[in-house]
Amino acid sequence: MNNQKNSITSENSLIETKNLGKRLSTSLNEELLILDQINLNIKRGESVAITGASGSGKTTLLGLLAGLDIPSEGEASLLGKALSPLDEDERAALRLGKVGFVFQSFHLMDNLSALENVMLPLELDSDSKNIRTRALDALKQVGLEDRSTHLPTQLSGGEQQRVALARAFVSKPQILFADEPTGNLDRNTGEEIIALLFEMQKQSDTTLVMVTHDDSLAERCQTHYKLVDGKIIT
Ligand SMILES: Nc1ncnc2c1ncn2[C@@H]1O[C@H](COP(=O)(O)OP(=O)(O)O)[C@@H](O)[C@H]1O
Ligand SMILES: [Mg+2]
Repeated sequence: MNNQKNSITSENSLIETKNLGKRLSTSLNEELLILDQINLNIKRGESVAITGASGSGKTTLLGLLAGLDIPSEGEASLLGKALSPLDEDERAALRLGKVGFVFQSFHLMDNLSALENVMLPLELDSDSKNIRTRALDALKQVGLEDRSTHLPTQLSGGEQQRVALARAFVSKPQILFADEPTGNLDRNTGEEIIALLFEMQKQSDTTLVMVTHDDSLAERCQTHYKLVDGKIIT
């Protein structure tokens, strides 16, 4: 493999960080240390929960791990590649087809049907084949095959999150990042979504990194990291 010199990754780790930190400056020009000395090692197939109070830096951490955001200090690697030498396009290319996302507020494209939303990540990957059939299969897996032509506004919150799950898993990603995926749903709907999420994770052999407020949900993951004052407590 090339680039091994650049890689901080040990064998079998899909995500690894070394002394990762994030500072932000406020509008008053004060420095805010949001994340400090984060050391994580997430292995292939692992399920990981990240919990912490609101504002403790969970979303910021997820963004750094996924290469959506850039650290102020330290290093992160994703899928065996150090992220810091890569520019934004190279980081996007690294994620393509291998990393899926599910967010609290669904993040579907409003002007696209359920099916078109699920097809989108496949269409971005020029190697993809049988896009429509695969997207329909994914919609079937989340029980929404009869809603394929509906726009997001014609779907309930739970249904929109099902579409988001289908979109996230359609490329059988190696890693799924989920940021409070049940945060906008009532308890029963949230539990249905979580059951589906774990089922699809198992089927696709996907590594799961999930931010949640819900300790009982965190306990269902193999590893539980707690963020307190910008630091990880295991
Ligand atoms: N772009 C930003 N500019 C300034 N402060 C930010 C920004 N993003 C996040 N923060 C602050 O960083 C802290 C952590 O935010 P976040 O990662 O969203 O926390 P969580 O997801 O745990 O609620 C919060 O205090 C938040 O206000
Ligand atoms: Mg958050």
